[in-house]
Amino acid sequence: MNDLSPPQDQNRDDRCPGTSYTDMLKADTRRVPDYLFAESTEDMGDAPIPIERYVSEDWARLESEKMWPNIWQYAAREEDMPEPGDTVVYDINEKSILLVRQKDHSVKAFYNVCLHRGRKLRTESGPAVNLRCPFHGFSWHHDGRFKEAPCAWDFKHLEAKDMSLPELRVERWQGFILVTENHDLPSFRDWVGPGVEHYDNWRLGECYTGAWVGRVIPANWKAVSEAFMEAWHSIVTHPQILGFTADANTRYDLYGDFLNRAITPAGAMSPHIKGKDQFYVLKSLEEFIGGGDSRARRATGDPADLKGFDADDPMLARKVLAQANRDAFAAMNGHDYSDATDSEMLDNFTYNVFPNWSPWGGLVPNIVYRWRPWGDVDHCLMEVRILMRTPKGEKPPKSAPMHLIPDDQPFSSASHLIGAALAGVFDQDMENLPYVQEGMKSSPNGVLELGHYQESRIRHFHRTLEKFMDGTLPA
Ligand code: FES
Ligand SMILES: [Fe+2]
Repeated sequence: MNDLSPPQDQNRDDRCPGTSYTDMLKADTRRVPDYLFAESTEDMGDAPIPIERYVSEDWARLESEKMWPNIWQYAAREEDMPEPGDTVVYDINEKSILLVRQKDHSVKAFYNVCLHRGRKLRTESGPAVNLRCPFHGFSWHHDGRFKEAPCAWDFKHLEAKDMSLPELRVERWQGFILVTENHDLPSFRDWVGPGVEHYDNWRLGECYTGAWVGRVIPANWKAVSEAFMEAWHSIVTHPQILGFTADANTRYDLYGDFLNRAITPAGAMSPHIKGKDQFYVLKSLEEFIGGGDSRARRATGDPADLKGFDADDPMLARKVLAQANRDAFAAMNGHDYSDATDSEMLDNFTYNVFPNWSPWGGLVPNIVYRWRPWGDVDHCLMEVRILMRTPKGEKPPKSAPMHLIPDDQPFSSASHLIGAALAGVFDQDMENLPYVQEGMKSSPNGVLELGHYQESRIRHFHRTLEKFMDGTLPA
């Protein structure tokens, strides 16, 4: 049913041998849309990446000056601040931004600084009657108009001045609240360009934050985010997922300057595993899920129930698991998944929006990562949210505040929120990342050497970063 001509990512000597993601799409039980079939690759060359970018405070200062003010940033989710007067404090580098929900449910973003003597207006997210500085009590209305100051007789010189809080631009997309300091950037959708429309199919705007954890990682924000841009480290770092994750068959696609994706097939075994059958795939996933992982809300079927599929079907596991997910999620939230592709019910759609966030695609609970520089060049704050689809006809619940995992605790200390299996995967990543940061500082040649295809998203990220550094961007 899903004919594809000409073949794209198959039978090429610059791709992993074996069943490709495109082959899996051809066997999908539903009609597969073009946005999954179509590859979007670009030759990113083979140049090494300078380590300076990860370890130099001077480089970080240049990022702060040239890049961060000139991009759209993901500052919050709608469900973090549902009611008028709700606020979110979003700190990025040396700047603090204050988001405020308005009476008409729009959102305004202000620089989070009192115009009197510079105290941060708010230090915590949460509801605010008005925006009143805790130092001397200068206060503002929710819409940023100046309200009053104690001892007004001493501030007559301000009466003729505009004391409104200076604003940033705000846009809202798929439940994300985005801000930029640059008043000339195109709208978010135009800025991202082709590829952004894929999300129209996944409707993350009708999802809510089911879990939200953060942890400070002792490594540069780019080193950490790049560890989530390729799947092939699974062979050594995450061997427990190889039975049901086709790690080296991952498709990597690049779009414009600001978007790329990895689609890592699930319900199919790694090409590194030989001589196993489809029941091995089902069993491996069941073992991984073990006691109730949140990602496992993706695959709750009984592996012994073949859902009417042929036991000899070479894609049996994908078909069984996709159908199990369709059934389970429809029962859970009342949405209709009957036309959803096997791929979108199963696979890992790790999209990254430049520079520091990853809102996963697909139709099952979606992970959202965000990585922010934190304190110095050797640390970042990594956040993980799980977006759950709001049950049909219901209002999305308000986000519980982020659970900040203490520095001396592993992700598995938050297993009750994100599930033991997923937390275990992050803890495996954390066994590398501090040592990446340390190791880079010992490099005698000062460069990293990347794979040509499987690490093409990292090259793509750096190409865009370079464009900010050399002044090509913002356009
Ligand atoms: S610093 Fe805010 S009122 Fe004085
Ligand atoms: Fe990993």
